[in-house]
Order: sequence, then structure tokens, then C-alpha cells
Amino acid sequence: MTGIKILATGAYVPKKTVSNDDLAKIVETSDEWIKQRTGMSIRHHVSGDENHTLLATMAAKEAIEKSKINKEDIDVVIVCTVSADNYSPSSACLVQGNLGLKNDIIALDIGAGCSGFIFGLETIRALMMARKSKYGLIIGAEVLSKKMDMTDRSTCVLFGDGAAAAVLELSDGLYTSVIGVDGDEEMIHIKTPNGYIHMDGQGTYKFAVATVPKVIEEAVEKAGLTYDEIDHFILHQANLRIIESIAKKVKQPMEKFVVNIDKYGNTSAASVGLALNEAAAAGKIKSGDKILMCAFGAGRTWGAVVIEW
Ligand code: ACO
Repeated sequence: MTGIKILATGAYVPKKTVSNDDLAKIVETSDEWIKQRTGMSIRHHVSGDENHTLLATMAAKEAIEKSKINKEDIDVVIVCTVSADNYSPSSACLVQGNLGLKNDIIALDIGAGCSGFIFGLETIRALMMARKSKYGLIIGAEVLSKKMDMTDRSTCVLFGDGAAAAVLELSDGLYTSVIGVDGDEEMIHIKTPNGYIHMDGQGTYKFAVATVPKVIEEAVEKAGLTYDEIDHFILHQANLRIIESIAKKVKQPMEKFVVNIDKYGNTSAASVGLALNEAAAAGKIKSGDKILMCAFGAGRTWGAVVIEW
């Protein structure tokens, strides 16, 4: 079996919301600028005792409960993130402990910027195949509010906190992927464990609108499908204008693109999972639907995966 089936998804976001108007009280910005340039209205930030491990654990808990599997059968846990609570131990190890999963498993974190969830899917599939695993657990989780310089308006309005998870099993079904890395250190980076995100916004924008359509084309072709046969395009939620530009380039209606950037901002490695969970929870995804997930980010990294629901 070389495919992956998603049995269930879950998500968890911090209670505290931060509106564009809230940010306009901290830096020189406005609701109008943020909405017009990004499509974002609110994002969630951790407060009080909330942390990365909590978000990741709660999202995973929901996915496991919804999947109705025996958690003892989970054999691999991957957390995709660039903002875990600790430099070490990994978030995946803490999730294993919090959920009381069995001990003879692999649990590790993967950092690929906003492409994290796609890199995570590719990695967990390979590990599950190698280990002949019954079930795998993938989580995308970020607490980017701790990684932002709240005096830098070019980044502090963009990112949010949240987590999404999925329980996976190997299947004979559809799975194709396109993954890439370009060895760039400058476009987007957090250079030290306690450092802040720096981003060349325009450079990232140009990179995304040039790269993503090619990656989508390659992934759809590899799957032996046409764009029309893809039911849902679930793209990294970095900027509504980027999503609209890509929809135009692949000549597909916006209705096929899941958009929730207005509610969460850019949640990096959690964003594709959050969008997937939202569409699934709303009953928009039907059995047999073809889903294309695609992301891009720091590294420079990119990736797309096509699966059947
Ligand atoms: N409020 C008001 N003005 C602002 C703000 C703000 N929050 N931020 C920047 N500006 C100003 C700039 O200073 C500039 O002013 P100037 O013309 O006087 O110099 C002006 O707005 C235009 O700035 P640009 O950077 O050209 O604005 P742009 O239209 O490119 O929008 C944005 C910026 C939203 C960051 C956009 O470039 C973008 O979305 N880029 C892609 C980001 C992305 O995709 N990230 C994903 C990967 S992230 C990861 O992997 C962790």
C-alpha cells in the first residue's frame, strides 16, 4: 500500500482573538490595509497557560476521538512546526506523553516553514510504509505569536497560532506528491531559538505566485487527473491575493479553494491542516473527492499532495 487515507481530522486554536483594529493600537497599520493586502481579519494568540504542546495535543485528541481508532494502534507521530515550546525535547514526544500513546513508536518534529504539513505527509507516509504501521498521527501546530516582533508591522499582523491534526492509515488509494527545496536562508527566517520571524514579503509573494501553479500542475499531472477533476484545492493560507492569483492561473473557480485566512491569519505549518479540517467539519468533502493540498514557505520549500477522501 503506497497511498494515505485520512480517517479524521481535528483542530484547536487559542481562545484569545486579535483583530486588525487591536493591531492598529500597537503598530502603524489599519484594518483596511491588512484586509486589502492579505484578506486577514482576526488571528488567535495564546494567552495564560496555553502553549504549543497544548494546542498540538488538543487537535490530536479531537482527530483520534473522531477517527474512533484505538490509540494503542498509533505507530508514528509527526508534529510539523517551527515554533515548538522547547528546542528539545520535540513537541511530538510531549504529545505522545500527553495522549498516553504506546512507547514503541516514532515521534518527531519536522520543520519546513509553511510547507511543513506537506513535508510531514510525505514523511509520515514513508515511515508508515517502512514500519507497516496501522495508523499514523500528523499534527501541524504553531505558536507564531511568540516568534513575532510586535513592533514590526511587516510581520506582526500576518501570523497566528493554531493546530490541526489528522489520523492516517495506509491505503491502496490515490497519493501523489511533488516536493522541493531551494536552500535559501534569507527569504523567511527565524535565525535563533528565541529569535523573531523576518520575511521579504514581496519576494515571498513573487516566489509563491510563480512556483505554486507549476507545483500544482505537476502534482495533478502525476495523479493522472485534470484540474477539473480536483474537487478541493487546499492551499497554504498566507495571503488571499496569492490564492486568488493561483485560482486564476489554473482556471478554477474560487468555490473549489478552501479559504479561512480571514479567521486565522497565516498559521504556517498548521494552515493546510486547519483548512482541511474546516472543510471536512462543514461536510464539504465527500467520500471519493479528490483533494489537492499545496504549500510554500521558508527554506525556500514547496510541496503538493493529491489524495482521495
Ligand atoms: N500596515 C500598513 N502598512 C504596511 C504594513 C502594515 N502592516 N506592512 C507594510 N506596510 C507598508 C510598507 O512599509 C510599504 O510602505 P511604503 O510603500 O511607504 O514603503 C507598503 O505598505 C507596501 O509594502 P509591501 O511590502 O510592498 O506590501 P505588499 O502589498 O507586498 O503586502 C505582504 C505585504 C502582505 C507581506 C505581501 O507581500 C505578502 O503576503 N507576501 C507573502 C507572504 C507569504 O506568503 N508568506 C508565506 C510564507 S511564511 C512562512 O513560511 C513562515
